Amino acid sequence: MIASATLACAGCATAQPTLKEAFKEHFLVGAALNESHFTGRDAVQTAIIKKQFNTITPENVIKWARIHPNPERFAFGPADRYVEFGERNGMFIIGHTLVWHSQTPSWVFENGKGGAADREMLLARMSNHIHTVVGRYKGRVKGWDVVNEALNEDGSLRQSRWLKIIGQDYLIKAFEFAHAADPDAELYYNDFSLEAPAKREGAIALVKNLQTAGVKIAGIGTQMHVKLDGPSTQMVDDTLTEFGKLGVKVMVTELDVDVLPAASRDRGADVSLRFAQNPALNPYTNGIPPAIQQAFNNRYASLFALYVKHSKVVDRVTFWGVTDGDSWLNDWPIRGRTSYPLLFDRSGEPKLALSSVLETAKKTHVK
Ligand code: XIL
Repeated sequence: MIASATLACAGCATAQPTLKEAFKEHFLVGAALNESHFTGRDAVQTAIIKKQFNTITPENVIKWARIHPNPERFAFGPADRYVEFGERNGMFIIGHTLVWHSQTPSWVFENGKGGAADREMLLARMSNHIHTVVGRYKGRVKGWDVVNEALNEDGSLRQSRWLKIIGQDYLIKAFEFAHAADPDAELYYNDFSLEAPAKREGAIALVKNLQTAGVKIAGIGTQMHVKLDGPSTQMVDDTLTEFGKLGVKVMVTELDVDVLPAASRDRGADVSLRFAQNPALNPYTNGIPPAIQQAFNNRYASLFALYVKHSKVVDRVTFWGVTDGDSWLNDWPIRGRTSYPLLFDRSGEPKLALSSVLETAKKTHVK
């Protein structure tokens, strides 16, 4: 076991190009931000963000529960600060997310009389929410994850309350409302585990259905919350190839590489998964062993080699967080673990994996 501090890459910060410079001919490089990042409360991480990234995604502050907690109340403060931060730093600003089954208050789906909302009521709420939120940041937020995670693992549509109450056209409606609210914004579909063939096929069908319906969809986001050993490089490669044929931008929207033992056989990123604490599943509280560190570096290098290979269609690669200490993987799907999924360690020092990633930019293929 070696201390995590020794895994930092001494001298990297000065000797290396930044991520956004290294990949400027290939794709945008970004991170998901929380409030401590864009309010400047965490100066170390804010400095990393300004230096390394040219696009940002809000980790939580634009989710329905945060920005529209009650029927009559929108809470724009944190989202306003997020957008201002992106503008001050010349970043491509993403909005995440408008229509999702998670982090959406129950009242959205209820009629206020103890029953479920009906189609008309839910469509009216969706329209109001999208017009208000997208409209507020019109021309400033450049791309929206309009619908998040509408698919099951077998590629069929998830039986969310959106689907059950409105019907299959809820996706079309969400994109139409977003387009009406800001005709110049890029509109995306976003999901996890799109490397698995069945779900990949479902996503392709979903995008084609939207295109057939005349909906303006600009991109598909594959979240990429991945493990050291899966999905395989081949599966990632195949997904980028197949998505590249859809005529939309392909984006890696929530990249992190989980080095901790899996809590279950479920390999997805379903935020509702929860497991009890178990020391055996939290083995690296004092640092990660060299063999795991090496596997981590190799994993990031092979993923970025694929992104570079597919950079004609890959438009953006966004990490889900900035430093290891802040990652959601310290608390999901088990609370209180010590996770190491990102390129910057708990002190904000670049890890060796950053060098491995930067190496891939030199290799091939410029748009
Ligand atoms: C996660 C955030 O990182 C956590 O802070 C929050 O508690 C739950 O949601 N897929 C998504 C993201 O699209 O919005 C999720 O973010 C991670 C999985």
